[in-house]
Amino acid sequence: MNVDKILVIDFGSQYTQLIVRKIRESKVYSLIKSNKVSIEEIIKEEPKGIILSGGPASVYDENSPKINQEIFNLGIPVLGICYGFQLISFMLGGEVQKSLKREFGLSKINLKNSELLFQNVQEEFNVWMSHSDKVIRLPENFIPLGSTENTEFAAACDLKRKIFGVQFHPEVTHTEFGQQIIQNFLFQVCKCKPEWQLSNFIQEKILEIKEKTNNQLVACALSGGVDSTVAAVLVQKAIGDRLHCIHVDTGLMRKNESQTVIKFFKEHLNLNLHFVDASELFLERLKGVIHPEEKRKIIGRTFIEVFENEVKKIGEIKFLVQGTLYPDVVESGAFSSNSSVIKTHHNVGGLPEELNFDLIEPLRELFKDEVRELGKQLNIPQEFLTRHPFPGPGLAVRIIGEVTKEKLDILREADHIFIEELKKNNYYDAVWQAFAVLLPLKSVGVMGDERSYSYTIALRAVTSIDGMTADWARIDYQLLNLVSNRIINEIKGVNRVVYDITSKPPATIEWE
Ligand code: XMP
Repeated sequence: MNVDKILVIDFGSQYTQLIVRKIRESKVYSLIKSNKVSIEEIIKEEPKGIILSGGPASVYDENSPKINQEIFNLGIPVLGICYGFQLISFMLGGEVQKSLKREFGLSKINLKNSELLFQNVQEEFNVWMSHSDKVIRLPENFIPLGSTENTEFAAACDLKRKIFGVQFHPEVTHTEFGQQIIQNFLFQVCKCKPEWQLSNFIQEKILEIKEKTNNQLVACALSGGVDSTVAAVLVQKAIGDRLHCIHVDTGLMRKNESQTVIKFFKEHLNLNLHFVDASELFLERLKGVIHPEEKRKIIGRTFIEVFENEVKKIGEIKFLVQGTLYPDVVESGAFSSNSSVIKTHHNVGGLPEELNFDLIEPLRELFKDEVRELGKQLNIPQEFLTRHPFPGPGLAVRIIGEVTKEKLDILREADHIFIEELKKNNYYDAVWQAFAVLLPLKSVGVMGDERSYSYTIALRAVTSIDGMTADWARIDYQLLNLVSNRIINEIKGVNRVVYDITSKPPATIEWE
């Protein structure tokens, strides 16, 4: 990409992705590299600046991650954050010590120097600390920039070589003026131009995809999820009807899902869509299967088979579009290599390598909220972009035990009622995910004058940032009551509704 760029070298901090986001929010492009990155690779990227992230290690540990010393001789400004600062000091001849008074959480920094890194920042402000080691002697040519009560060198720099270090985390919101400090590094120190924006990204991706596909055919498995849809629309902008989207109705979709998304894809997005109704095949294969992982495997295999058959009908397809996002790439530890990472566990549309396609992953560098913004710029309606995630194996992992048509129909209705009420009552956008689960457990109830003996529906709604951890949503009792009444009254075969109040961990979001 032809804009100024900052490399963030990762030493294992939980905040590394946050640094990148803060930089991109300031309209400068940024990428994470592993601490094993070679000097040649760094030079090739032509960054305007380098940030060394924090990390849990101690510089004196034998196996703690280090960096090639040459990085300090490239003439590229460097900012070390927390562990990054300790590493700079250690490698350039200073001294680091395990602090006797651990400094975690908020501290007050007093600035000694308000140039460059600390321009337009108050003399005293709160900063967020998160490491028990600290620099106790600066390397030669470094000057102190600020201190806290317990840390003499809370910030320092070698002005000549433009190497900076801070003991605190400017990327977290608890640090006052954090964004200003990052921007000072970008614009005062590195002299970056704020030119990164998604509209440029779209134009560049379109050119790149055109070039890469070189008049050949491209396929995309389109379930109705946000990421694959945004990826498909972007690819379609580049190559038009050479993109063949395939939607497979597995019979495990929510109520009216296939019809709704197909209509939407065709009418609103004008995608070249092939529809396969494979619901009977999936049901047949799932007959008598009880174990969750076995269900997943059968669904995955069947999906590939159906997809492959459809692709063969279309012609010779060389490329496959995938909606892989940046966190998927980073979490898989693949950010230092060029290899493509395919989501496995969490994506049935993540087709395996043996299918022998070249991958097109236009969203590989983006975060989820950037994908939503991109979707907006590509004129995908907001309502679609804020849809909850839905697992590839669909309702099969929301029916405990064997999946049957009868159970699927009951679950579809219950799920529909729950979601409809959440939307009506403005709860839908406030939760990460909400759905119903069918428990094959039958219990006794009374309906009118009659005794009933029917299934249980569990409602699940969670709040989460990324699905990795989650908390159960504190939904209003009146609303739960309404949903419960509607489910019992409107659906035959259910006489009990429960609400799941476990967080993740220890539970997972899905029940299987
Ligand atoms: P869990 O249940 O692992 O889910 O807490 C975390 C997030 O991932 C989704 N999920 C899946 N997505 N295939 C998918 O495509 C799967 O097999 C799968 N299992 C879980 C889940 O809906 C939640 O958003």
